[in-house]
Amino acid sequence: MSATQSRYAIGGSFELDSISLGPPEQLSVLVGERKGSWTVSGRAAFELLLRHLQSKGARHVHLPSYLCESVLLPIRALGMDMSFYPVDKHLNGYPDPPSDAVVVVIHYFGWENRCIDALRANAGQGYYLVEDLSHGLMSAWSSSADVSELVFFSARKLGPVSLGGWCSIEVELDRPSVEIEGLAWRSLAARLARAQYLSKLDAQVDPAIEAFYLEAFAAVEEHLDSHPLISALPQVVLDILSGFDWHDISARRRSNWLQLHDLLSRHVELPIEELPADVVPLGYLVRLQDRDRIRKALAAQRFFCPVHWPLASEVSKKGFPDAGLLARSCLTLPIDQRYGPKDMMRMSSALRGELQRHAC
Ligand SMILES: Cc1ncc(COP(=O)(O)O)c(C=O)c1O
Repeated sequence: MSATQSRYAIGGSFELDSISLGPPEQLSVLVGERKGSWTVSGRAAFELLLRHLQSKGARHVHLPSYLCESVLLPIRALGMDMSFYPVDKHLNGYPDPPSDAVVVVIHYFGWENRCIDALRANAGQGYYLVEDLSHGLMSAWSSSADVSELVFFSARKLGPVSLGGWCSIEVELDRPSVEIEGLAWRSLAARLARAQYLSKLDAQVDPAIEAFYLEAFAAVEEHLDSHPLISALPQVVLDILSGFDWHDISARRRSNWLQLHDLLSRHVELPIEELPADVVPLGYLVRLQDRDRIRKALAAQRFFCPVHWPLASEVSKKGFPDAGLLARSCLTLPIDQRYGPKDMMRMSSALRGELQRHAC
């Protein structure tokens, strides 16, 4: 990236233009009628569910071979065994839960996983079903009565909060530590700073300001990766979560996805090919042969596209070739609420330019 570039960017950690705090009852947009507990992250919420199931005799966790490695942290911390099940190129899972295991299903990118109906039908008869709604939080299907009683989510994926997770069991939690409160405020300052900085679209990149907010975001991730995290969520994060206009967020994500689909679907391979009416997408997922080179070239033009996910260290490439393929070829194009039609046009042109360069 050159310091003479303009600041315009797509992707990267969410900025926050202003803070609008909402009343607690508005959190029902996220959790519906379910009772449960807010904690600092998705993995902490998952750990609360696992502790609960461990107390009922569960010793083993059966997981999809394509997943975010952070989900494994609580399993390791609790000393439970784990095994993995196949996920195909279209992100459908094929679980085969050992008896008394906890089987975890991820509803990737907001789509309801096709394996779920059969699992829901027999949950509680020889295995416990836990659904990870982190990506599907705003998808209409996720509030159906068919969804398992045991669910958790990370609240950090669809909007500008650095902390937040929830699980569907009620637990008395310690107040957040001073360090967690400090991280919540520091990352809030960083999001506001990023918004101010990016609002001057044509000004030049200022590496010192970018370093300030990137370090603040990295500090939260490092803390979540390296500390036990079972505590309540700072109140300010709950107030911010309840102040978002989740319906507007959902509508923008859907319309950006549909626009990118019009612009790109004939030019790239897609693990997911259509957007049902009841899905709010996390991103626009494409499969690229030369993913890492293209990702780097896009980042040089300030299109910052995440990888969901590298293969977790416990998952064998040979045993799960499709998960290996997804891990080395998928790129997520940002379609979130910060962006509109012009941004989608710019990003799709940049990607098509890179694809053509590669083809020459
Ligand atoms: C699908 C999914 N579930 C759970 C998690 C864990 O959430 P957190 O990072 O808030 O602990 C992640 C993290 O990326 C995720 O992608």
